[in-house]
Amino acid sequence: MHFTTILTGVVALIAPLATAAQVPAYNLTQALESGNWNKYHCMDTNRVVKLLPKCLTKCNYIANSKDGCAYDDIACHCVNYNKYSPLVEKCAFPKSMGGDGACTLAELGVARPIVNDVCNFFNATLYANYVHCPQRLSPRKTFTLIAEGNGLKVPNQQG
Ligand SMILES: *[C@@H]1O[C@H](CO)[C@@H](O)[C@H](O)[C@H]1NC(C)=O
Ligand SMILES: *[C@@H]1O[C@H](CO)[C@@H](O)[C@H](O)[C@H]1NC(C)=O
Repeated sequence: MHFTTILTGVVALIAPLATAAQVPAYNLTQALESGNWNKYHCMDTNRVVKLLPKCLTKCNYIANSKDGCAYDDIACHCVNYNKYSPLVEKCAFPKSMGGDGACTLAELGVARPIVNDVCNFFNATLYANYVHCPQRLSPRKTFTLIAEGNGLKVPNQQG
């Protein structure tokens, strides 16, 4: 199936839930960049961690097990950003930035665009790229967050 067909299906699927709320923010042009579909297929926590500076490893493991999403469901962690992000930040940020962690500003600067690209992709595609993947997923949690407009932003980057 063509990517945009899948995507249209996903948007149609969440539209009834999202009418009273908002959908996650994303830049579609960025999400559709060539290579992303393969790069992020069946993405799980271990693979996200491998993309990021080492100082974030433990904090990602902790946050991904504490935010209420299935551990290896990156779509859920990304939509759950309001809950997920403070968990990682407190753990990883240095004291000078209000955290208990040991990441340097340079490491955080490396991580930011990587996390942004991962979450931009999953905000745009949600479960479309998780078909036939082995891990346990938590779509009910994700779609509940979306339906509740739980800190979600109106898409502001139409690409
Ligand atoms: C993904 O969506 C969540 C929920 O709307 C939002 O907080 C987060 O900033 C979005 N991530 C990106 C990269 O747009
Ligand atoms: C969306 O992503 C594309 C490709 O990465 C980029 O060129 C464009 O500036 C982005 N749009 C916005 C509004 O950020």
